[in-house]
Amino acid sequence: MTENKSPEKIAIMFNEISGVYDKVNHLATLNIDKKWRRGIIEMIKQDGIQKDKIFDVASGTGDQTVELLRLDPQEILSCDISEGMLEIQRRKIKSERVKIINEDFMNIELKNYFDIITVSFGFRNFKNQEGAFTKMHSLLKPGGSLFVLEIFRTEGISSRLSNLYFGKVLSKFGNKISASNYAYNYLYSSVSGYYSLDEFVNIGKGLGFRPVKVKNNFLKIVNTICFRKHER
Ligand SMILES: C[S@@+](CC[C@H](N)C(=O)[O-])C[C@H]1O[C@@H](n2cnc3c(N)ncnc32)[C@H](O)[C@@H]1O
Repeated sequence: MTENKSPEKIAIMFNEISGVYDKVNHLATLNIDKKWRRGIIEMIKQDGIQKDKIFDVASGTGDQTVELLRLDPQEILSCDISEGMLEIQRRKIKSERVKIINEDFMNIELKNYFDIITVSFGFRNFKNQEGAFTKMHSLLKPGGSLFVLEIFRTEGISSRLSNLYFGKVLSKFGNKISASNYAYNYLYSSVSGYYSLDEFVNIGKGLGFRPVKVKNNFLKIVNTICFRKHER
């Protein structure tokens, strides 16, 4: 992980591409990203877990937050460092149950507060990966659940496909549509230089989480992991 992932730089980049972020996402995944986000909601329903207080970390333009509202929770905290991304989210979400804040999630001080935390395509962008796990652990109630939807580094044929797609196809057309000369190159390097799924799960395990479910959404490249914070 060699890129500069300072929150300030990440916020500038997402502010620049916020206007086309949804469009590129849906085009790049042929709309399947919607199914992956909805998959988190299905996992939550199947598990029958507590869902009163939810924190959508790095919520961006709010597509995961919109899905979370379907759970009919008491409250959702939706937080992102990019005001540009949140501007789009505010147009989509009018519910009084959702509090949208422009903040680095590392600054949120609500210990043992949330039943559920979700992070969709956000974890890879955090500067301090272990610190992020530790922070989320402190924010969750004992027995609370962390759902991570993310793109991971892979090996073999999946890796070749991933490199071809993110490195050659998406970096070109993403940069072109967004008029950015680096955002979608960053996407490629942030994936190819990221953890494998196993490495990521092991880091979570070492920091007080139990992996309870792993869902391979696409060629083991895109996965959803449900971690549970140990009961006291
Ligand atoms: C790829 S987008 C994902 C947005 C959204 N969750 C989704 O599913 O489309 C990653 C988001 O992470 C946000 N982000 C990165 N670091 C953050 C931090 N430390 N605190 C809050 N948001 C952060 C970025 O601003 C960006 O909006």
